[in-house]
Amino acid sequence: MSDETLSNLLHENRRFAPPIELAANANVTAADYEDAARDRLAFWEKQAGRLTWAEPWTQVLDDSNPPFFQWFVGGKLNAAYNCVDRHVEAGKGDKVAIHWVGEPLEDTRDITYAELQAEVSRAANAFTALGVKAGDCIAIYMPMIPEAIVAMLASARIGAIHTVVFGGFSAEALAARVEDCGAKLIVTSDGGYRRGAASALKPAVDEALVKLDNATSGQVENVLVVRRTGQDVAWSEGTDHWWHETVDTASSEHTPEAFDAEHPLYVMYTSGTTGKPKGIKHTTGGYLTQAAYTHWAQFDLKADTDVYWCTADIGWVTGHSYIVYGPLANGATQVLYEGTPDAPERGRWWKIIQDYKVSLFYTAPTAIRSFMKQGDAVPAAYDLSSLRVMGSVGEPINPEAYVWYRTVIGGAGNDGEGTPIVDTWWQTETGATMMTPLPGVTAGKPGSAMLGVPGIEVDVVNDEGVPVGNGQGGYLVVTSPWPSMLRTIWGDDDRYVDTYWSRFKEQGYYFAGDGAKKDEDGDIWVLGRVDDVMNVSGHRLSTTEIESALVSHPYVAEAAVVGASDPDTGQAPVAYVILKESAGDGGADIAKVLSDHVRQEIGPIAKPRQIMVVQELPKTRSGKIMRRLLRDVAENRAVGDTTTLADSNVMELIAAGQATST
Ligand code: WT7
Repeated sequence: MSDETLSNLLHENRRFAPPIELAANANVTAADYEDAARDRLAFWEKQAGRLTWAEPWTQVLDDSNPPFFQWFVGGKLNAAYNCVDRHVEAGKGDKVAIHWVGEPLEDTRDITYAELQAEVSRAANAFTALGVKAGDCIAIYMPMIPEAIVAMLASARIGAIHTVVFGGFSAEALAARVEDCGAKLIVTSDGGYRRGAASALKPAVDEALVKLDNATSGQVENVLVVRRTGQDVAWSEGTDHWWHETVDTASSEHTPEAFDAEHPLYVMYTSGTTGKPKGIKHTTGGYLTQAAYTHWAQFDLKADTDVYWCTADIGWVTGHSYIVYGPLANGATQVLYEGTPDAPERGRWWKIIQDYKVSLFYTAPTAIRSFMKQGDAVPAAYDLSSLRVMGSVGEPINPEAYVWYRTVIGGAGNDGEGTPIVDTWWQTETGATMMTPLPGVTAGKPGSAMLGVPGIEVDVVNDEGVPVGNGQGGYLVVTSPWPSMLRTIWGDDDRYVDTYWSRFKEQGYYFAGDGAKKDEDGDIWVLGRVDDVMNVSGHRLSTTEIESALVSHPYVAEAAVVGASDPDTGQAPVAYVILKESAGDGGADIAKVLSDHVRQEIGPIAKPRQIMVVQELPKTRSGKIMRRLLRDVAENRAVGDTTTLADSNVMELIAAGQATST
């Protein structure tokens, strides 16, 4: 983010006070902040009481071996029981858990909590019959269909560990994740509907198994396939099984076993500063406690009357915490939508809100910006007056997008004053929301995540780990452990300690990797990543990961990738490559060839916005690429200080090349 945007942000002085009626009936009030501040552990102990435990814990937090913290030690529970069965037992079996909306119009399905219980039980029995045991890993590679949620809950129910791989990821990315977590079972579908057409998924699984050399390693024992589109699929007898033949025929009776609070629930892969994605490990009791509490608190959830909708994909952590675990633990009714926002027309999302009277809505700034571009007329054609609270997540929300969201999408809410927005800051690693204004308490400022959730202690510190004063910037840290924190990086404790806990080791602070500022009131504004990680449409990608993909192409000798600011996606990858001599000039379509290669290696989301062939890359005398200078070029700025470059002419050549290529 440029200095100019930064100072504009900090001069943003619009304030939106909580609606009076909402505040009067709010789930969370100012007193809760005081309670939590007085005794944080007692506060979380109280929140853990939202769940049903088979055995109580003996200790709230075990901090005897930092940074390996444990929460609700000795407690036992079953996550799926908490998300499903207990609501049925409480007489809410007929309540709709999921209003599923397929992309083709009229292709919908309502699933009650009782139906969900039967389906999850069948899947749990089927998984067990396929040889999956507690502690085994199940990879889930699926579109946004109810079976994806069923598979996650069935995994949790039998104590298996799921790793959901985003359906937009390539076979290569899938194979790497399946291998890293040692999955024995893959749950997938023939395909799903996107942009009006059936798009295939199963072929990527087949390809991943070839890459894993599964025929000889035999690691993946079974593949379970949901028939969604009916398209043709290749079939391996013995390994492949249809969901409708395996799960639908299994018994709907299943007794959930209680697992330890610290039993692993899932591993979610995310990009770090090196090429290899990190498997973020989350466990059961603390995770479910904070997911449930924050979902209830930030949306002011009234489970009996609200209809909730989170537009994230279950392949990201937002889908885990705020489609599956938080809302279902709270017994909410929610919408699950399969397709793209513009299918069959640009108002599809608004039609869904109108049709289902969605009251709580959660989406990302990148989506809001794309709707803003389409103009106010598209949403104006729909009745959006059901909206009560709206959330934003994934990247800093620009003040203009915030105000548009509040007053155009949420314009009818709050007696025409606009719908309150919760700007929730968190990460795959934090598991659940860490900072957000609360709709009944906080006067929101457009673009600021404001302050810690009750019971969460965050701060902005300088290089020495000392909290900065108001009006100053620094690094965002979490100063004390929290229930839904990651427990480690799967199979790599050292990398866990290094990545998150070594930067402010002395203070024992968690280093989030984000820069932030405190404004004059002490409210926090998150500015974006300070490491070599970029945020594309709210999804994290590392520069190294894309560089590795480029270098894996036979033409490429060296590559440098930077995240350049982008009006649509927040940031976009821009790549500079040096070709091998044997590749000559690479041919006229070299940029397309390399871009397709990145798409193949990682997925469409990682495709560079621009690829420039260069002769040299700007390096320091010690050989480190100065990405800062490349970012200047990619963002069409004057190139900054080049005095530490080994060869000071390099940047002139690159900047001249940029001028001719655009
Ligand atoms: C990174 C985490 C949280 C689930 C989705 C992304 C950025 C996230 C905000 C926000 C400013 C935000 C940060 C963070 N980020 N939410 N409300 N304001 N920045 O999860 O892929 O783990 O990425 O997203 O840079 O570190 P993720």
